[in-house]
Amino acid sequence: MTQHDPAKRRVAEAAAALVESGMAVGLGSGTTAAEMVIALGKRVSDEGLRIVAVPTSVATAELANSLRIPLRELDDVDSLDLSLDGADEVDPCFRLLKGHGGALLREKIVASSARKRVTMITPEKRVESLGTKMPIPVEASAIGLRHTERRLQALGASTSIRKQADGADYLTDGGNGIIDCRFPSVVDPEELNCRLQCVVGVFDHGLFLGLCDVLVVGYPDRVEWIEKSEPRK
Ligand code: A5P
Repeated sequence: MTQHDPAKRRVAEAAAALVESGMAVGLGSGTTAAEMVIALGKRVSDEGLRIVAVPTSVATAELANSLRIPLRELDDVDSLDLSLDGADEVDPCFRLLKGHGGALLREKIVASSARKRVTMITPEKRVESLGTKMPIPVEASAIGLRHTERRLQALGASTSIRKQADGADYLTDGGNGIIDCRFPSVVDPEELNCRLQCVVGVFDHGLFLGLCDVLVVGYPDRVEWIEKSEPRK
């Protein structure tokens, strides 16, 4: 999918339409979030929408800045009314897998600070079980990254340290490494969440549990809204 995929654009515009003047809004990262930032920037300039926004990555901050969306650091706002972000996978319980774009810890901190979390996806991202198609990214200290990797292997993960194009270790905006972990199966994401959080060197990981209130699914010609209270088919 390209950045200007019509389904992504449609879901991004629908999510951006939720923002009201006076809100503090968390801006996610990735290609879908970028479409949402573009749609929001248009509303700021066309409608005079007055908001403050908290970005989850340097890339999102640069894009929002270029569109004159007023930005704040998370600690400069008391709370966030809304966060709008994409995801790599969503399961029937609204649990998410995120971080394939390399923003992860900051995304989770921002989503955890928002009163309402809206996740924008395209339909192929709905899965029965997280982490079967894609590895679970784990953000870990660049110090001792390979030692942390071995601790994750001891939990049963097949691992690979994420690399940049030049072969050097990939570093997040926060200067941390990412270890992509494949587990034979993820039957209990809550239990795996606890086990990953206990590994020395791990800052956070791509299982986002209890951080999606509304799912917006984009198709080329429509969007589908699914509230968390509504049982998924
Ligand atoms: C960023 O690291 C991720 O958590 C993204 O939110 C996720 O990868 C979805 O990205 P796309 O919208 O580009 O698929």
